[in-house]
Amino acid sequence: MLLPGQHINQKGHLTIEGCDVVELASQYGTPLYVFNEAQARRNMRAFRDAVAHLYSNSAVAFAGKAFLCRAMCRIVAEEGLYLDVASSGELYTALSADFPPERLVFHGNNKSRDELEMAIGAGVGRIVIDNDLEIDLLEELTVDREAAVPVALRVSPGIDPDTHELISTGQVDTKFGFHIGSGAAMRAVERLKASKILDLRGAHCQIGSQLMDLSAHLPAIDQMLDFAKQVREDLGVEFDEINLGGGLGIRYTEEDQPPSMDDFAAQIVERFAGGIEARGLNAIALWQEPGRSIVGDAGTTLYRIGAHKEIPGIRTYVCVDGGMSDNIRPGLYSSVYSAVVANKASQPANHQVTISGKHCETDTLIKSIKLQKTEPGDILAVQCTGAYNYSMASNYNRMPRPAVVAVSDSQSRVIVARENYDDLLRQDRG
Ligand code: LLP
Repeated sequence: MLLPGQHINQKGHLTIEGCDVVELASQYGTPLYVFNEAQARRNMRAFRDAVAHLYSNSAVAFAGKAFLCRAMCRIVAEEGLYLDVASSGELYTALSADFPPERLVFHGNNKSRDELEMAIGAGVGRIVIDNDLEIDLLEELTVDREAAVPVALRVSPGIDPDTHELISTGQVDTKFGFHIGSGAAMRAVERLKASKILDLRGAHCQIGSQLMDLSAHLPAIDQMLDFAKQVREDLGVEFDEINLGGGLGIRYTEEDQPPSMDDFAAQIVERFAGGIEARGLNAIALWQEPGRSIVGDAGTTLYRIGAHKEIPGIRTYVCVDGGMSDNIRPGLYSSVYSAVVANKASQPANHQVTISGKHCETDTLIKSIKLQKTEPGDILAVQCTGAYNYSMASNYNRMPRPAVVAVSDSQSRVIVARENYDDLLRQDRG
């Protein structure tokens, strides 16, 4: 499966935005995350325009948890998107890249006092409050303050999405947000209404991730708008904005058929705009926070192939020089990836193999895939690794984390350097 911006050149090598990945592998080493900057920018524009075209009172924040580094913050800023940061580390990264703080949305289900202090001090655009303790802390921290602190309320609409249980977040049984059904969300609005400094702008929800249809988003919109109406009736508070989080799925394999961005936007806007009208609500801004659908298909991981092991009548293991330290998703969520032998991309893919990493456990990257005939030294390109790969990478087995190289317009540049052995020792004492 080729991703947008990928081709096969005359040498039979895979190219991304005009860069021969076999050359990238020898220039920068492997494993290597190749980040298609041009594709990430196209996705940002496409997502924002798909919504704005149908509903101009809208905004898009990139969910930094999917992939964040300073270069990425600059790209997001250049494209005019907002940025969702979910910890003080992500916030610090954004601030250090001079990301405009008023365009930051600060998330987290257990923000510490220090994190909240940092967010207020930086002047972030929204603090999305998750629980009562955060309201207590914010009240304490702003006691001597005169300027308003813009906040939103994370609520849980009680919708169970059809995705892996570890990435389902909108259901009743969740650690995230104030539950609407139990009355907790309404009580939180009441508390915030009484605050002079905490300026409640609206509500936020995140239903789940890698969703292949809108069967959870649409009822969630209804719940959010019902809540907005109830809040107006009971407390006289009008929401300016509703943030629906992220969730749009992507194509990891040929079989995956998620909605297109245009289709997704059209269905969301129809339900949202129609719902506002039906309930007689004021114009409410529609916010979204995509992560995976912005950077997922902008990432490809290059590995060098090494050992082969054939278990007669069972399977052939093809081992690569990375694994669960650079991509934990197959192990954690049973995620399925596609791949191509980058230096033999024009040859037929008819050898059934299992791709294994080099960590000291089973460490399967791809359980079963048909590939070109492989030999030690070949370059394997695992597709669609742009989201939640680098951001979830670890040093398991003391593996240095790979570099991230951005490609665009036939040019490449390192945006995150490869870790070296000294980096592994840097925090060791004694
Ligand atoms: N906003 C909030 C508040 C979120 O919690 C998330 C994802 C997003 C936006 C972006 O959602 P997306 O568009 O990427 O689906 N590590 C998991 C994914 C966890 C997603 C958590 N929250 C994985 O590798 O599949």
